[in-house]
Amino acid sequence: MDGVLRLYFGESNLPTPEYIKQAAFRAMQDGFTFYTENAGLPSLRRAIAEHYRKMHHVELDPTSEIVVTASGVQAINLGIRCALDPGDDAIVLTPAWPNGSSSVMMANANVHQIAHPLCGERYRIDFDALEAAVTPRTRLLLYTSPSNPLGWVATDEEQQGLLDFARKYNLWLMADEVYDRLYYEGGKLGNPVPSILQKATRDDAVMVVHSFSKSYCMTGWRVGWFIARRDMTAKATQLNEFIISHAPTFAQKAGETALADGEGELVSMLERLKQNRDLCLNALRGLPGVTVPKPEGAFYVFPRIDGLTDSFGFCKRLLEETRVGLAPGVAFGAGGEGSIRICYAAESAILEPAMERLTKFLRAGA
Ligand SMILES: Cc1ncc(COP(=O)(O)O)c(C=O)c1O
Repeated sequence: MDGVLRLYFGESNLPTPEYIKQAAFRAMQDGFTFYTENAGLPSLRRAIAEHYRKMHHVELDPTSEIVVTASGVQAINLGIRCALDPGDDAIVLTPAWPNGSSSVMMANANVHQIAHPLCGERYRIDFDALEAAVTPRTRLLLYTSPSNPLGWVATDEEQQGLLDFARKYNLWLMADEVYDRLYYEGGKLGNPVPSILQKATRDDAVMVVHSFSKSYCMTGWRVGWFIARRDMTAKATQLNEFIISHAPTFAQKAGETALADGEGELVSMLERLKQNRDLCLNALRGLPGVTVPKPEGAFYVFPRIDGLTDSFGFCKRLLEETRVGLAPGVAFGAGGEGSIRICYAAESAILEPAMERLTKFLRAGA
């Protein structure tokens, strides 16, 4: 359809910053065009370890606890394939980006989605439902903080609760932290959401997946990373050989530059994203029948609309009648129906008219 105001995607509208592109050009000229290690360039793994030391005060061994991946989704896939046998069970906290659940199914394992309950204006974790979902074959629990699509960020106690739960039932705890730098409530913009790695020991069965995509506007580059206990990273490194061998070598070099020089541009992007978030909240709050939890991270708002039972149909009508494209809540699994997802990482020339059209559509009782 022509002329659609697109807010259904999951990436920033900003191009990759020039200094990162230049780093890739330089890397190609410097000969980073050959195969490299399955676990990624040692220099990038050292840079990631240094990043965690600086950002999270966590010590990681770059040679045995970090695997560079070809994106966040590849990190999710690797961890899941290493942790699950066919017929195993995995718990996934939802609403969530659907690829985690899909990766579980592709490993011929069973997904048990547990919805975050909305209590007042905040999403929480239903620990009773988690307890009830455990079976003798449960091996893994996946959660996402900051969340896509909720913008929810696990509190300190919630993180501890998840870790305790995983320890109690001997599960792998997979934390999707790809949005950890897109955090608006951390005191100062640029402060990350504290990683689960601060609470876990290096002997805990914990995996963290991460990516260059969101913080550095590098979605098309396909570079991410995976941090886990060393027996898991050893398996993941082996498995990488048969899937992608390794992430593109010059893109890994560009990632090193992003980590080293990216703070300034990241903070400017966060300032703009926070304004966009507030614009969406101001537009939606006070609309009758609409509940809008305040997102603390990522770049989505996920308003819940009273009485909505077909979010796909809602988004289709919105598209046809107003040319605004949003993602239906039902796409994000259990707990998603009844809501719609707006990605606000867009320029004002798109976001402002889109929000005007959406609020008019909602006011008309659509
Ligand atoms: C929660 C979450 N995790 C992981 C990813 C994967 O990002 P990428 O594969 O581009 O690194 C996404 C992308 O939308 C996401 O929303």
